Amino acid sequence: MASVYGNIYSFFIGHHLVVVLNDYHSVREALVQQAEVFSDRPRVPIVSLLTREKGIVFAPYGPVWKQQRKFSHSILRHFGLGKLSLEPKIIEEFKYVKEEMQKHGEGPFNPFPIINNAVANIICSLSLGQRFDYTNSEFKKILNFMSRGLEVSLNSQLQLINICSWFYYLPFGPFKELRQIEKDITTFLKKIIRDHRESLDAENPQDFIDMYLLHVDEEKKNNSNSSFNDNYLFYIIGDLFIAGTDTTTNSLLWCLLYMSLNPGIQEKVYEEIERVIGADRAPSLTDKAQMPYTEATIMEVQRLTVVVPLSIPHMTSEKTVLLGYTIPKGTIILPNLWSLHRDPAIWEKPDDFYPNRFLDDQGQLIKKETFIPFGIGKRVCMGEQLAKMELFLMFVSLMQNFTFALPKDSKKPILTGKYGLTLAPHPFNLIISKR
Ligand code: HEM
Repeated sequence: MASVYGNIYSFFIGHHLVVVLNDYHSVREALVQQAEVFSDRPRVPIVSLLTREKGIVFAPYGPVWKQQRKFSHSILRHFGLGKLSLEPKIIEEFKYVKEEMQKHGEGPFNPFPIINNAVANIICSLSLGQRFDYTNSEFKKILNFMSRGLEVSLNSQLQLINICSWFYYLPFGPFKELRQIEKDITTFLKKIIRDHRESLDAENPQDFIDMYLLHVDEEKKNNSNSSFNDNYLFYIIGDLFIAGTDTTTNSLLWCLLYMSLNPGIQEKVYEEIERVIGADRAPSLTDKAQMPYTEATIMEVQRLTVVVPLSIPHMTSEKTVLLGYTIPKGTIILPNLWSLHRDPAIWEKPDDFYPNRFLDDQGQLIKKETFIPFGIGKRVCMGEQLAKMELFLMFVSLMQNFTFALPKDSKKPILTGKYGLTLAPHPFNLIISKR
């Protein structure tokens, strides 16, 4: 559509005006240069009913979102370093991934459940302070809630709630099921938060929930109007699971798929791992600076696959003019991250898989400002650092231990992806051989 109508075009969904921004220039102009106007989220009735406009991802732009994001972001930063560092937890989680993969011997297997379990467990470690065995019934319950929740909210009948919100209360079919799932998730997470409250040790916070609860207590002493409370925490934990699981799982799956399709590049990544880390030591984030080829490979997979292709919708909070176009207040804005990462004006041969585009003549990494799979501006992904840490440590561990290939008789996989909330690869099988 951009090739017919230009890089900024609009259409209506019902009576809602939607503007799509297709190139880096317009996305940056809106989300960075005019951040104050372009950082709100649309009010979608089904989303508002489920989130009560709390949490971070779908919260309206304003002081409450700002306070909650700033504090949550500072907690996430703690997990990069110090006592709460997630690095050993990710390395520990990889041991289970390895064990599970080895169970398949030389036979083909679908890597999705293993990677999904591992990524979900990392979010569990971070937010709840514990990992679960893959066969644990509590863990299966969490995973099941997430997939059922997403499946049900994408159900077409439920979209009727967006036209008329009282449909949400209908006592049958998917409406009833949605309310039941919401109730189950609430009971489950609220119990975990209550348990944390009871065992809270101010001197020794263990996880995200502990650190948030301590802040709630602190705020209660000093600020009677504080937005920090146990109920708000519940929505933030939900956001960490929603925003952090599918995205990272699919990015890792795409990495495995691209490595299987490009054995020459897989070999070069392995050579770098062998040279910098060796075959036995577990990777560490401190290795990253010496591994530009590996980093460039992960970035190139992210560029081609863009797991959040239309970002998360934004909304204008005022009438404004963007690059000559008048955009009314309340317009839904879709930053098309997918198209800007394939823009031939920025990326030479944009459809080719070519990690070297991120390297200079000396083989050093080039940071490109037009590479923005995590978005830009005030709403930029809050988990960007964490996601990069997970991607690097998991990807390097996988490549260090196994060679990945497609089964001999398999059809060539479709690389366009399957669009749900994120862009996932179509299911595929792999075979592994031990390094
Ligand atoms: C490869 C993995 C990931 C990718 C590609 C990704 C990408 C994105 C993108 C494109 C956005 C929307 C930005 C916008 O609205 O302009 C976003 C928002 C967000 N992400 Fe991520 N994300 C990833 C992993 C994570 C993880 C691991 C977490 C946390 C545990 C996380 C937490 C969030 C949150 C809380 C927001 C909402 C920010 C706000 O509205 O203020 N993400 N992410």
